[in-house]
Amino acid sequence: MNVSQAVTSRRSIRDFLETPVSNSLLKDLLAKASWSPSGGNLQPWKIFVVNNKSMKDFLSFQEKWLKPEEPAYSIYPPNLKEPYRTYRYELGEQMYSLLGIPREDKTARIEQVLKNFNFFGAPAAIFCFIDKTMGPPQWSDLGMFLQTFMLLAKESGLDTCAQEAWSMKHESVSSFVKADEQDMLFCGVAIGYKNEDALINQLKSERSPISQWVTFI
Ligand SMILES: Cc1cc2nc3c(=O)[nH]c(=O)nc-3n(C[C@H](O)[C@H](O)[C@H](O)COP(=O)(O)O)c2cc1C
Repeated sequence: MNVSQAVTSRRSIRDFLETPVSNSLLKDLLAKASWSPSGGNLQPWKIFVVNNKSMKDFLSFQEKWLKPEEPAYSIYPPNLKEPYRTYRYELGEQMYSLLGIPREDKTARIEQVLKNFNFFGAPAAIFCFIDKTMGPPQWSDLGMFLQTFMLLAKESGLDTCAQEAWSMKHESVSSFVKADEQDMLFCGVAIGYKNEDALINQLKSERSPISQWVTFI
C-alpha cells in the first residue's frame, strides 16, 4: 500500500470485530509514527495504550463513563460559523440516515453517540495527551502524529476512529491512565479490525471541492 492508497482508503470506523490487536504491532506503529514532524522537534505527544487486560479493566468502569463531567475543552467554537456548521450537520444527517434513525428518535441518536464510550467495540485504543502549557502549534503537531499513526495502522490492516468524545470524560480517563497533572487529554483513538458487515462502516463523509479552500496566487 502506498501513501496515496492509505490516505484515500482510511475512514473512521465505528464498528469493530473482537479480533485482538497485538501490543507488539501497536508498539511498532507508535515507534514509526514518532517520525512525524513537529515544530522545534518538540514531539509533544504523550500516548497511553489500552489493550487486552487494561481494556477489560477500563470498560468495566462503563457506568462511570456515563456520568457527566466538565469537558477538557470545547470541541467546537461557540456559534460554529458557516460553512463548518453545515459540514457538521451534514455528517450527522448522513450517519443517521444511513442507520435509519430519524431526527425525532433522540434516544437512538444518543445511543449511537454513546458507542464512542466503548470504542465502538474496538479491542484496543490509545489516549493522546499533551502538556497543558502547549499551544495551537503543538496541538497541530499532535494532529500530524495522529494522522501518521492512523495511516500506518491502515497500512498494517488495522482501522481506527479518532475520538474527541473522550474529552468529555477526561477526568475519569486521566485518573485511569494515571496521567500527569500537567497533561490534558486531546482524544482517544479506537483501534481494531473493521466489521465489514456493519452498516455504519459504509459511511463515506463528503469533502468540499478544492476550489472552495485553495487559492493559487
Ligand atoms: C481529532 C478527531 C476527533 C474525532 N472525534 C470523533 C468522535 O469523537 N466520534 C466519532 O464518531 N468520530 C470522530 N472523528 C471522526 C470524524 O467525524 C471523521 O474524521 C470525519 O467525519 C471524516 O470522516 P473520515 O475520517 O471517515 O474520513 C474525529 C476525527 C478527528 C480527526
